[in-house]
Amino acid sequence: MAFRDAFKEFPIIETERLVLRNLRSEDAEEYYCQLRSAFDSPSRPPWAYGFELRSVEAVRDSIKFTENAWKKKARIKWGLCLKNGEFVGQCELYDFANQVKAEIGYWLGAVHQNQGLMSEAITAVVDYAFGPMGMNRIYAKTATKNTSSIAMLRKVGFVQEGILRQDGYRDGLWTDTALMAILSSDL
Ligand SMILES: CC(C)(COP(=O)(O)OP(=O)(O)OC[C@H]1O[C@@H](n2cnc3c(N)ncnc32)[C@H](O)[C@@H]1OP(=O)(O)O)[C@@H](O)C(=O)NCCC(=O)NCCS
Repeated sequence: MAFRDAFKEFPIIETERLVLRNLRSEDAEEYYCQLRSAFDSPSRPPWAYGFELRSVEAVRDSIKFTENAWKKKARIKWGLCLKNGEFVGQCELYDFANQVKAEIGYWLGAVHQNQGLMSEAITAVVDYAFGPMGMNRIYAKTATKNTSSIAMLRKVGFVQEGILRQDGYRDGLWTDTALMAILSSDL
């Protein structure tokens, strides 16, 4: 299997508690509710998901955009569902460079946080990226104030490579961003 195969048929991934699958238009309402709860927090990065936070309709548009981006081999966005089908969040790879490097983004609805679910999902996505997709580096940018995001990334093997100073701006204040990454040779 190679990088391009991830864009022939959507790569569904199963973990112990989750199914990572493609997003569908009918997920929009639940996606919106979970997203609102996920980012109802002072630690949220100022730029992330602003468009989708506007309305269910905006989420529906975003799901269409995501599907097209996947067809163009530019993004893989997995909806995260519990085994009973409940939609709980998402995780995505994007900004692919030379088929070996990508950024990862993620969120979980508030009631599903702190149960190890995102570490389970990210571990599976990283294994998929470094295994079948043949990638070498996955990185994440997360606000330095977002301590649970940084703790979760460290737990699954990401290391902090630096701080992007005054990388964001929110509520009249500059915010710093931690650059976190994992290499295939780290596993
Ligand atoms: C960041 C996020 C995805 C983490 O997902 P999660 O499923 O809760 O993560 P996990 O449970 O796997 O791991 C979280 C870790 O952070 C730790 N943690 C939680 N709150 C913390 C805090 N305030 N300070 C330090 N560590 C904290 C937990 O103890 C856990 O570590 P442990 O398992 O070693 O005890 C989730 O909190 C979220 O969606 N937040 C809002 C959206 C967001 O910030 N997305 C990232 C944008 S870059």
